[in-house]
Amino acid sequence: MAKIAVLGYGTVGSGVYEVIKTNQTIVNKNAGEDIEIKYVLDLRDFPGDPVEEILVHDYDVILNDPEVSVVVEVMGGVEPAYTFVKNALLKGKSVCTSNKALVAAKGPELIKIAREKDINFFFEASVGGGIPIIRTLNLCLTADDIEEISGILNGTTNYMLTKMADEGWEFDEALKTAQELGYAEHNPEADIDGWDACRKIAILTSLYTGKNTDYEKVYTEGITKVSARDIKYAKELGLKIKLIAESQKTEAGLVAMVAPIMLKKTHPLYNVENVLNAVYVRGNVLGPAMFFGSGAGKLPTASAVVSDVIAAVKNRSNIKVEWDEEDLNLASLGSVKRSFFVRVSGSEDEKLKRVNELFGEVRTVKVPGLDGEFGFITKVMCEDDFNVGYDMLDGAIRRIRVDNVEDK
Ligand code: HSE
Repeated sequence: MAKIAVLGYGTVGSGVYEVIKTNQTIVNKNAGEDIEIKYVLDLRDFPGDPVEEILVHDYDVILNDPEVSVVVEVMGGVEPAYTFVKNALLKGKSVCTSNKALVAAKGPELIKIAREKDINFFFEASVGGGIPIIRTLNLCLTADDIEEISGILNGTTNYMLTKMADEGWEFDEALKTAQELGYAEHNPEADIDGWDACRKIAILTSLYTGKNTDYEKVYTEGITKVSARDIKYAKELGLKIKLIAESQKTEAGLVAMVAPIMLKKTHPLYNVENVLNAVYVRGNVLGPAMFFGSGAGKLPTASAVVSDVIAAVKNRSNIKVEWDEEDLNLASLGSVKRSFFVRVSGSEDEKLKRVNELFGEVRTVKVPGLDGEFGFITKVMCEDDFNVGYDMLDGAIRRIRVDNVEDK
């Protein structure tokens, strides 16, 4: 019998409780022994909920109980989660977490403690919700030199962009619904400003390079500036705007970023809609691989957490995770080549000559009903060159990167 404790009874914590109760037989079978939730820690009370029988408010009860071999941390945020997790590991208890903020900020230190104590620190649910991408990178795609990972790693913003494009929802309505569905972070700015996706691409980059990627150094742009007008232009062009998190090896070094990107129909992430996430991985011998599934929400996230619990019960000794404390140097985005979409005020007749002077040949676009402005897409060029032209363009309203996989 393996006894576990769950820290936090919010969306994910209650999901972990539900998944274990619903699938108890299969969970026990896959773990090779019975798994019992001995404690749930939360500051709140839950009158009428069966969890009350095992609810505790004092973390020391869990920490000092030698029967608890696995601690599940699903509280979110760096503190007090970091202190709780570190102390659990130091006491010889394996930890499974869904907490991106914690893993991105403290991952290498916690991985090191787990290694020294010969136990495990697992964090499958921290990226991609229910998609098993962490274990895949750590244990499966190990024969490859990974050249690129790009993905839709935030369910909230993907849901919002889908509803804004398909149903014409306003930004605020889409966000409110994503919150009601349990997709958004406690502070949804982490989703819409891109920080959640940024932490996730930093975690994936750390795993495939083996070095620590400081998420604060990853160029990050969220979706708050994406307007209904931008989406109309994208539709007119047959493109979709998605919040893409990407990390790739280039001649200048490894570049990582999060930003809204216009995707063509041929892009592997084009059809990833609603709360779904997908991770595209390119290895030097594997070529491309795609991992696709439920990216946020109570039960998909809990499914990944419980799979970690099962792995921790099955593997009492440490499974090595390649993620050292040494910092990874990130190269600037300046040399990355792609096309850019620009909206500019004025008419094509009066502005096109100047646009051509700054960017060369472009493809122009006009959306019926949007007067006093037009849009254009540049040829493939590096970001630095584009920025020089953009800064000199009078009346520029907005620019969005366009992916040109096949044109590079
Ligand atoms: N807020 C996150 C998202 C939850 O929307 O993807 C899953 O990490």
